[in-house]
This record gives sequence, structure tokens and C-alpha cells, in this order.
Amino acid sequence: MHHSRRDFLRFTGKAAILAAGAGLGLPSFLPASTPGVFSSARLPVPGSSGLFGLLSPDGRLTLSAEKVPDVLPATGAPMLAYRASHNGSTFLNPILVLRKGQDFETTLINGLDEPTIIHWHGLDGSWRQAGHPSYAVEPGNRYEYAFPVTNRAGTYWYHPHPHALTAKQAYMGLASFFIVHDDEEDSFAKELDLRLGDTDIPVVIQDKRLTHDGQLDYSPSKDDLFMGYLGDMVLANGQHRPTLKTSTRLYRFRLLNGSTARIYNLSFVLNGTRLPFVLVGNDGGFLPTPQELDGLYLAPGERIDVLVDLRTLSPGQEVYLQNMTFDPMHNESGAMHEGPHTGQHTQGGHEKGKAAPPSGHAGGHGGLGEGDTYPILRLLVEQKVRYERTIPRRLPDIPPASTDGIERPIALAHKHMASWTINGLTFDMDSAPIVVHKRKPEVWHISNAKDSMPHPMHLHGYFYRVLERQNSPVQIRSLAVDSKARLATDMGYKDTVLVWPGETVSVSINFGTPSYSGEQLFLFHCHNLEHEDQGMMLNVKVL
Ligand code: C2O
Ligand code: CU
Ligand code: CU
Repeated sequence: MHHSRRDFLRFTGKAAILAAGAGLGLPSFLPASTPGVFSSARLPVPGSSGLFGLLSPDGRLTLSAEKVPDVLPATGAPMLAYRASHNGSTFLNPILVLRKGQDFETTLINGLDEPTIIHWHGLDGSWRQAGHPSYAVEPGNRYEYAFPVTNRAGTYWYHPHPHALTAKQAYMGLASFFIVHDDEEDSFAKELDLRLGDTDIPVVIQDKRLTHDGQLDYSPSKDDLFMGYLGDMVLANGQHRPTLKTSTRLYRFRLLNGSTARIYNLSFVLNGTRLPFVLVGNDGGFLPTPQELDGLYLAPGERIDVLVDLRTLSPGQEVYLQNMTFDPMHNESGAMHEGPHTGQHTQGGHEKGKAAPPSGHAGGHGGLGEGDTYPILRLLVEQKVRYERTIPRRLPDIPPASTDGIERPIALAHKHMASWTINGLTFDMDSAPIVVHKRKPEVWHISNAKDSMPHPMHLHGYFYRVLERQNSPVQIRSLAVDSKARLATDMGYKDTVLVWPGETVSVSINFGTPSYSGEQLFLFHCHNLEHEDQGMMLNVKVL
């Protein structure tokens, strides 16, 4: 079962060769951080094997969590990855592609030196299948999963969930996509001539810090554990500021924020102006109607499915997927923002400045503020092609959200700037502060304190329907698409919802669907993974 180096080199290319050859000296090819300056690095695009290879399992699969050398596309550094073999090929962090209705059977082997367990984020499955931290297995041990895929088509993902170790393990590399196809997806893809790995491209966005010799560095300070660990470079599929060569047609991007803490305000930018794009899906698959946008927020754990139209461009033109300036609203110290807030915390002792000038201010370890402007990915148009498809006006329909049910207030706050709490509580493995009934729908009003920071709140096992946003900060309210102040990204089914300081987001949850047999113990937690590990998480018992 040795892994094929060739597979990895397909992705890491020059970077890996240099880094491996040079004993991982600081790679001089890491580009300067000025937007517009891009290295020649290609976006690692999922292929038929290797890192992020597309894997459609037939029969039981084995995923071995382990440390793998020479693999991080950006520097060739080692990272943690799920290794799998399938039909003679080796995969690292395979992008699992399954059909609705298919049985998914996999064995996790813990090849790490600490406990781990996989959580299938967004996928239906009883709590025994969902990777509750109480099921974490010791080094050398295995855990067997078997469940039918009952979700509709969509972009789901998987990552570790051992208590207090999730952030570190995900940061070090353990995370990938789980894509579900069904008939509706097939006809959509056919209508628009989209092919996964070619014109339908999953991209995981993650920020990292590197040590001076190019290794992934996860060393949060006490402050970082409270605020979330921010990297000083943002990688797309593991590569720093990569380029995707395109032709003049429509592309679909499935973007996952796989960062531990960083929130992105994303736009596609052409010649300094935002290029409109069409949001067709999010956490739980297609939205009922496509939404034309020119920017959106993506918090850790969330996914978006967008169509970008490059038809009017000419060869040589470039489009940047960029983070746009925003107020990250770190208001936990009580210092409500005056301008691009002063309550911003420092990262690893690096001063994070005010919102960046358009040129961005971060260089090397200078810190990269969440609200800075910086590019993530470049699309470089290379080829003129004919493409005459039109985006459908309607997408697969979903039932309207029910607005009644048991009302449950959920309050997010901090205790003396030391820990984050949900209804005043932090995680206790053995207690279930939220008890719900399968047959009774609920409406949760999730309120974030004013002296707080944004929290992306995730629920295992079920989806939310966002009903309303109240008291949203200006930068959010201005994006509202209806009288309930909901955002385009709130439509459809959500499993992670970002709640800004001072804001209340009301969601309805139907605990009867899916219907799991027997009592269940799921989790409700902040997907800022440092917050989760520090206890911003509660058990939810389903009777
Ligand atoms: Cu993706 Cu419990 O998390
Ligand atoms: Cu989850
Ligand atoms: Cu949080």
C-alpha cells in the first residue's frame, strides 16, 4: 500500500520538488503578498487520484488518518490527511462522490498519535454515524461507519471531531468534501455542461501560518484560543494564490470555508470591479431560485455553490476571487467599533492593522486581518470557446419552512473574556442541556451578545431553515434580500449559520426529518473551531 509519489506531484509540482530537495528551506517561491502578484502555481484541481482526488466508492472504503510527507501544495510540507486506496489508486483527503440512496461504508483507522473520529458535516446519519466526540478512537484503533446517503445533492464535507482536538487536526490537513449527486443534480449539470473536476470545481479555502521552514504552524496563544487562530496566508486547495486557466464559458465553484476561524467576504473581481455571479446552492444543496450577487460572507463550515460566467471575457483577462474589506466585528472587549474597529485582537503578537488599503498590508508574518483586501485565487482566461447554455430560472423546489414550533432562545456570550458560552454553558460530554422531541418542530432564536464576535453556529443531524435576521449590523443588513432581512445565502437548507454581534437569527428545525431510530445525542456548536474546542458546544438530546 505505498502511495504513489506521482499522484502527489501532479498537484504539488515544482513546489514539492523544491521543498523536498531543499530540505524544506523557506520556499523562495512563495509570492509577495501584494494582490495582483501571483506565482505560477496552479490551483490543485481534483483529479482521479492523489490529493483531493475524486473517489466514488463501490463497497467498503478505508480512510486512514495519518501524517503524510511532502504533500502541502504550497510548500511541500507534511500534513495530516485521510489516505485511501481505491481500484489501485491512492488518494489523500479524497473528495467522496456518492449518489443519493447509495450505502456508504467506511472504516476509519486512527494512524495519529492522539484520539480522532470523523464527522460527516451536513450528512444525515444517526449520532453513532455522525462522529460524536464520545466515539473518538485511540491511536491504532478503528471505527466503522455504515449509513445510507439520504441527503439531496449538495456539497457536504468531512473533518475530525475529537473533543478539544478538532481545530488542530483540521488545521493540520484533515478535511475534504463529500459531494452527493442525484437526478436533479444530473439534469442541472447536463443542462449547463458542467463536469466535476473540470468545470465544476470544489475549492476549500483555509488560512495558515507557516514556520520559517515552511511547515504548518498550529500554536495558538491564549488569545488565539479565545478569538480563533488566524493564519497569515490563505490557501485554495492547499496552494497559495494559485491560478486556474479557464475558457470563455460558465464555471461552477463549490467553495468551502475550511478555516478554523477566519470569515471571508468573497467577490469575484475583474479589472477592479465586482463581477456578478449566481448563487445556486449552499450547505444543503440547491436554493429554490438562483440568486445573482456580487459578494457574500462565508464563515467556517459553510459552503456555497456559485456559477461564474466568463463568456464576455477575452483570453489574457483575469478574474480574482478576493476577500473584500469588512469589519470583522471583534467587539468582545466591549469597544464597539469606531471605524474598522480598534478592539481587534493581535495575532501571535502581530499587530493587525485597520482595514487594509486596497493593496493589502500583510506580508509574511505581518498578519492578515480578516477585513483586509486580498486575493485568494486567480482565474486566467486562456481560450475562447462557444458556450450557449442558459442558467435555469428555477432550481429543484423545496417545501416552505414551517414558522411555528417550540420557541427556544439561544444566547451566545462570553464569560470574562475567557470562554464563550451558549445559554451560559460550556461543553460537558455527559450532559445534554438541550432536549428536543422528534415530533415537535422548534424555532431557535440565536442571539449573539453585543460585546461579542461573529459565531458560525452549526447543528449536527438536521438542517435549519433561516426565518429571519434581526438587529443585523449595517454591513449585513445592506445585503438583505427580503423583508425578513435574510441574506441570499440564508435561502434553502443551512447547517451552519453566522450570527454577528448584536444580531438574532431565527431558524426553524424539524427534528422529525430525518427520522433516526432511538434516542440521539447530537451537537450544537460554534464552527470557529477554537471556540468549539474551548467548549462553545452543547449536546442536544433528541427523544
Ligand atoms: Cu463541521 Cu461539529 O462540525
Ligand atoms: Cu456537522
Ligand atoms: Cu464562536
